[in-house]
Amino acid sequence: MVFNGETKVLGIMGNPVNHSLSPIFWNAAFSELDINAVYVPFPVDKEQIGAALTGIRALSVLGVNVTKPYKESVVPYLSSLHASAERLRVVNTIKVRKNGEMEGFNTDLTAFLSIFDENYNKGPVTLLGAGGAGKTVFGGLCQRGCEMIYWFNRTPGKQQILFPVGKTSVRTPPWEEPELRNAMSKSTMIINTTSLGWAKDDWMPGFENSFGPETTYWDLNYGGDSRLISHAKKIGAKVINGIDFLLHQGAEAFEILLDRQPPKEIMRKSLNYFFQRNEPEGSAND
Ligand code: ATR
Repeated sequence: MVFNGETKVLGIMGNPVNHSLSPIFWNAAFSELDINAVYVPFPVDKEQIGAALTGIRALSVLGVNVTKPYKESVVPYLSSLHASAERLRVVNTIKVRKNGEMEGFNTDLTAFLSIFDENYNKGPVTLLGAGGAGKTVFGGLCQRGCEMIYWFNRTPGKQQILFPVGKTSVRTPPWEEPELRNAMSKSTMIINTTSLGWAKDDWMPGFENSFGPETTYWDLNYGGDSRLISHAKKIGAKVINGIDFLLHQGAEAFEILLDRQPPKEIMRKSLNYFFQRNEPEGSAND
């Protein structure tokens, strides 16, 4: 690929961001469609979020994805929020308009809804995590009218409910083994949006044998099988890892930032190719 004065720059900002696999499938898509653009990781310190966004605008960056832990903290710096991000105030895609205005989108929400619809039938859901991704999943579960959500977070008080939840019952028990075990044993779906699983040996209180083959364990982390995923597989649960979610949110962000249809098959193939050749050091969830 030749870069020149016409090359458009896009990227992903977060911290850490070096393990992100987004550059692989974005750059594969550019190559496939012969688009003169490059997608790079932007590691950003917490104190530099505002400066980074000003820089992105000043450097005519076309747009960025936002990952851990900034999906909420970028919001005050944006000119406007798209409907997908407005209710939850969580953003994973920022489009820089020609006049410099920056609009925030949440393509995690549509990714979540689409995969959820294919895999959920009914019953209570245990939701683990209340960061940007956890809040997005919570919004999606309420949007789908899920009857009962057990919503856990290691740090208490972060499970903020910012909108009417309709018929959904929400419990926010403490992040303790008996409560986690009890909720998981009653749930038909367990969704992990926490960083637990990034490191292969990560473990969660109450996870061991608290659910069985009738449960779906959905881990938004992607990469190799963590200890959590391996255990869920061992006990026969249906397991969904974060790859589909990653590709889905990326494909929608591609359409928003490039105004073009993403080459989804090529994006998937580029990740498969990567996994065939590399044993990921850890996991991530963009
Ligand atoms: P994202 O945008 O991917 O949700 P985030 O906003 O940084 O990222 O949120 C990370 C989530 O992982 C939070 O729910 C965090 O819990 P805290 O609010 O207590 O920090 C959770 N998390 C991170 N490390 C964890 C750990 N070791 N055990 C349990 N939860 C953890």
